[in-house]
Amino acid sequence: MGKILVTRHLPAGGLDPLRGHELVQRERDVAYSHRDLLAAVADVDAIVCLLTDAIDAEVIAAAPRLRAVGNVAVGYDNVDVDAAARAGVAVCNTPGVLDETTADVAFGLVIAASRLFGDAERDLRAGRWRGWSITQYLGVDVHGATLGLVGFGRIGRAVARRGAGFGMRVLHHARRDTGEPGYVASLDELLAEADVVSLHVPLSPVTRHLIGRRELALMRPTAVLVNTSRGPVVDEQALAEALESGQVFAAGLDVFEEEPRVHPRLLAAPRAVLLPHVGSGSRQTRTRMARLAADGVRAVLAGERPANLVTKPRATA
Ligand code: GLV
Repeated sequence: MGKILVTRHLPAGGLDPLRGHELVQRERDVAYSHRDLLAAVADVDAIVCLLTDAIDAEVIAAAPRLRAVGNVAVGYDNVDVDAAARAGVAVCNTPGVLDETTADVAFGLVIAASRLFGDAERDLRAGRWRGWSITQYLGVDVHGATLGLVGFGRIGRAVARRGAGFGMRVLHHARRDTGEPGYVASLDELLAEADVVSLHVPLSPVTRHLIGRRELALMRPTAVLVNTSRGPVVDEQALAEALESGQVFAAGLDVFEEEPRVHPRLLAAPRAVLLPHVGSGSRQTRTRMARLAADGVRAVLAGERPANLVTKPRATA
């Protein structure tokens, strides 16, 4: 039986697969500082962590017994996977269980941003709504619009299905030709063509600031940008400027460059709907995510090959 650090509180039942192991958990649900994390991993066999934990090369080096990291998220840009692989540490994530839930939020943002829910609700709550007016809060239609998906993995495809259900024309861009209807090889072309651009790529050096000043300038002045992937895929400063100047119509964001900090110009920008990273946040899905990450760790410690392996343990590399 192993000793497992669980960095944060998880939904009830999420750690069931690890019954019988020694679990190290803190009373308060706060993220470890990097320094505290280095100390906390010194004698553990595995870590169950969230995307708020930077499991970098230093953390891995500080954990000589470490064999597995279970990241309770599908994105694993917070884990240095190469350093883990070099140290023989298996990294697991949570693919497949959050696609539909995240796509619900992405599509919610498509509608909320296009129809200016953010500005409208803020005005109502602040007592600024003076009654119905025919020229007030005029958004753009979602039905019949062209949806441009950047990234066409499981979540992108789930958003595509929602778009089709709303009578949208659905295009997608991916690095490799999908061979499927709606594929657009050039990102620039997709940006110029779409009424709504929704981002579904993992964060990597290639996708950091994929949408910057130049790309925003390619978009239509009536276009809406939605990001439920990772914050740094969008240059927030450039997006705030594009919203202020009207270069893009609206934005719906669930993720930010330096969470939980939100760029002050984005906070003040018009026609932006901002959510605190709730994409996968249904009770059912968050529980499934925790169980899947925990089960990956269980499998590695039992000498099995987990289904959700991002890198391979030394024994099987
Ligand atoms: C959430 O953002 C995830 O990557 O699962």
